[in-house]
Amino acid sequence: MILLTGGAGYIGSHVCIALLDAGLDVVAIDNLSNSNIASLERVQSICGRSLVFRHADIRNEEAIYEILRACGVTAVIHLAGLKAVGDSNVRPMTYYENNVLGTMRLVSAMKKAKVKTLVFSSSATVYGVPRYLPLDEKHPLEPTNPYGRTKFFIEEMLRDLYRSDDDWRIGILRYFNPVGAHESGLIGEDPLGVPNNLLPFVAQVAIGKREKLLIWGNDYDTPDGTGIRDFIHVVDLASGHLSALRHLTKRGVLAVNLGTGRGNSVLEVIRAFDAVSGRSVRYETGERRAGDVAIWYADPTFAKEALGWKSARSLGQMCADHWRWQLQNPDGYRGIEVLKVQERSRDADRHRRASSPEVLSKRRIARPHERA
Ligand SMILES: NC(=O)c1ccc[n+]([C@@H]2O[C@H](COP(=O)([O-])OP(=O)(O)OC[C@H]3O[C@@H](n4cnc5c(N)ncnc54)[C@H](O)[C@@H]3O)[C@@H](O)[C@H]2O)c1
Repeated sequence: MILLTGGAGYIGSHVCIALLDAGLDVVAIDNLSNSNIASLERVQSICGRSLVFRHADIRNEEAIYEILRACGVTAVIHLAGLKAVGDSNVRPMTYYENNVLGTMRLVSAMKKAKVKTLVFSSSATVYGVPRYLPLDEKHPLEPTNPYGRTKFFIEEMLRDLYRSDDDWRIGILRYFNPVGAHESGLIGEDPLGVPNNLLPFVAQVAIGKREKLLIWGNDYDTPDGTGIRDFIHVVDLASGHLSALRHLTKRGVLAVNLGTGRGNSVLEVIRAFDAVSGRSVRYETGERRAGDVAIWYADPTFAKEALGWKSARSLGQMCADHWRWQLQNPDGYRGIEVLKVQERSRDADRHRRASSPEVLSKRRIARPHERA
């Protein structure tokens, strides 16, 4: 039984599928601050299997402890967190409170429940401005914004935790740029408001929800002048979590990049998206954005050595899958699907009242309004 924090989110919902498809049981917790429970309804229909959902906040140590204990959790994959770099500059304390304090509380609950296997979602942003490329795991950690620093401090905290108690098995996964969606088109990235990431923005322009994309600078030292990033298909990223769980057989702390090792420029992404969508994404070029670097991509060698994992999907597939999700769900998870989930949750409430209040059912998503 795996506890997945942030399970209703973009990456979390894809990790749920990887775990359920591998035959593992999942309890997903989320405070739904940046997600919709409809994602987990769809995960269940994609997999034909159920999972347990608890509406809980990772900062609520007691609630997490109760879930760990009641569900018989053996390992935790920890994705819950706030993730917008720009927002973290405006509200740094909120990021420290949610991400760092939240992880402290989660780990304390795990310690109390004697669950000592943890896979943590870190970010390649911990590397800061590249001193060399590709970025390998030995690159110095010099994050340049509060969001990146929360990931860095959590990584350091987890290393200290292991030094104090060598029973722990900890995997730190440093994601590059996750994009794309499940091939069914049923789940994907559903940003609230203006998207922070490139592909959701491109897709919203392609579908006519936004007029044009603003490219932040075309005078970088790259072949076409636009920035280069390591885009990784979210389904490949999700399978990396399963590999990490399987390889955490030895005690210790293992930090691993999850990237493709290839870089693609912003213009290449737009062209690839045009090709699969048959649309022509409008864009204009603006000034460089403070804090952006020219080129950024992973050295994925260690992931192959340590986890036996490597990415498989192409940029074309990332764009095609994202486009399918966008076309099938122009308003994301908002609308009819939510009503359906609420109805089901009322059914679940009736069922719950008729059975033991303490037991979390494995056959349904538990009440979304149940705040732990
Ligand atoms: N998407 C990316 O580009 C990217 C890149 C690198 C690292 N990451 C990390 O991966 C993780 C997942 O990212 P995502 O893109 O799926 O984001 P997301 O916002 O879609 O998912 C995060 C989930 O965590 C939940 N959450 C936030 N704070 C919580 C709390 N205190 N208690 C319970 N739930 C909480 C949110 O409601 C959301 O469902 C995050 O930790 C993020 O920092 C993401």
